Amino acid sequence: MLAAPCLLRTLRCLCSSAPRPRCKGRGRLSVRDALRAQPPSGERVKVQGWIRSIRAQKEVLFLHVNDGSSLESLQVVADASFGSRDLAFGSSVEVHGQLVKSPAKKQNVELKAEHIEVVGNCDAKDNGFVHIHTPIITSNDCEGAGELFQVEPSSKMKASEGNFFNVPAFLTVSGQLHLEVMSGAFNQVFTFGPTFRAENSQSRRHLAEFYMVEAEISFIENLQDLTQIMEDLFKTSAMTVLSNCPEDVELCHKFLAPGHKDRLEHMLKSNFLIISYTEAVDILKKASQNFTFTPEWGADLQTEHEKYLVRHCGNIPVFVINYPLALKPFYMRDNEDGPQRTVAAVDLLVPGVGELFGGSLREERYHFLEQQLARSGLTEAYQWYLDLRRFGSVPHGGFGMGFERYLQCILGVDNIKDVIPFPRFTHSCLL
Ligand code: 4AD
Repeated sequence: MLAAPCLLRTLRCLCSSAPRPRCKGRGRLSVRDALRAQPPSGERVKVQGWIRSIRAQKEVLFLHVNDGSSLESLQVVADASFGSRDLAFGSSVEVHGQLVKSPAKKQNVELKAEHIEVVGNCDAKDNGFVHIHTPIITSNDCEGAGELFQVEPSSKMKASEGNFFNVPAFLTVSGQLHLEVMSGAFNQVFTFGPTFRAENSQSRRHLAEFYMVEAEISFIENLQDLTQIMEDLFKTSAMTVLSNCPEDVELCHKFLAPGHKDRLEHMLKSNFLIISYTEAVDILKKASQNFTFTPEWGADLQTEHEKYLVRHCGNIPVFVINYPLALKPFYMRDNEDGPQRTVAAVDLLVPGVGELFGGSLREERYHFLEQQLARSGLTEAYQWYLDLRRFGSVPHGGFGMGFERYLQCILGVDNIKDVIPFPRFTHSCLL
């Protein structure tokens, strides 16, 4: 398994590599040849490749361009006026200019750009997050809740000699573990895709097939940094929807949820609150409301509790952090905080919906994770995951946001089945 993490780390260097140019046109140089130009003669050349990094100064723009012909990238120096949205990490470019001696010690040669053409822009980058397509069919149960749909060939094709994939395979309940693999190569990654849960629930906020935005961030060491990213995602996405499709939002607010516009504005203007799970249970115990489920330290928060907490906090979204270890999956980071042991988990509760985001710091310490896996009876199946902690483990964390619940929250739609064209839930899979 050593190969996988190493390979992934290598990906970081090579991911933007391209096939070498098969034939060179006039003046066209590979990055490798450009770097070898001795001495740089000031000749006019054309270099094609992918932007590996970009740094803008007041008057100058520094790009590092690589075409896969060399591990080292070629520094391109351009007038700041070249700067455009499309000149971004991952974009493919064709740079025309002169090869000159670099004043910097790090490299001998640099390319003084006279013209830069963006061949293909790269929309895979959003605030530095790299988009990963995580698989829909997987052999893991990330959340450990056993709410899995198993994937098998239809009966006609059923192989008599066991599983199609040799191991039991399921529709994904979360792309998190795959993101964690990729976060060993790219330090901020995200995925957005369908997610499946065989939850036997007929509620207004559960689907058997829903979409989830998930992010994973390396080198993050505390929950506050994670909550800040979650809050930013909530607010910037809402602002984008409000400014790009005001008529649609207004229609919902007018006919489905009168008064929701003000409630949403209130959320967007306020700083989200943070309370601990222990504080949350204390608030619930003191509540005058009679709950169906009696609040107790060590028990899961139910929807009625979550909604109460949000009302108690003035209808501002509230992060609840540090849940009991026994309630949460094996991958969450142990807070090592005594008999009432908690993990660095976080849920964001929002008005009307309850839980919208779920996330945590991940257990990056080998021995802690080993113990957690043993406790959950997963040691054998998750050796590959444990290996990620053996080879260059870093503190990291991430979260998932249910997309349909997000729509419910910003549009004021009461039932999750009304924000998706083809809702799938227990006893219903029309079309
Ligand atoms: O809290 P959850 O289960 O977290 C995870 O799956 C983590 N592995 C995510 C991560 O850290 N990368 O689910 C995340 C969110 C919930 O907060 C909720 O909004 C949504 O997914 N969700 C559902 N939405 C609709 N129907 C369901 N059955 C849902 N289950 C979860």
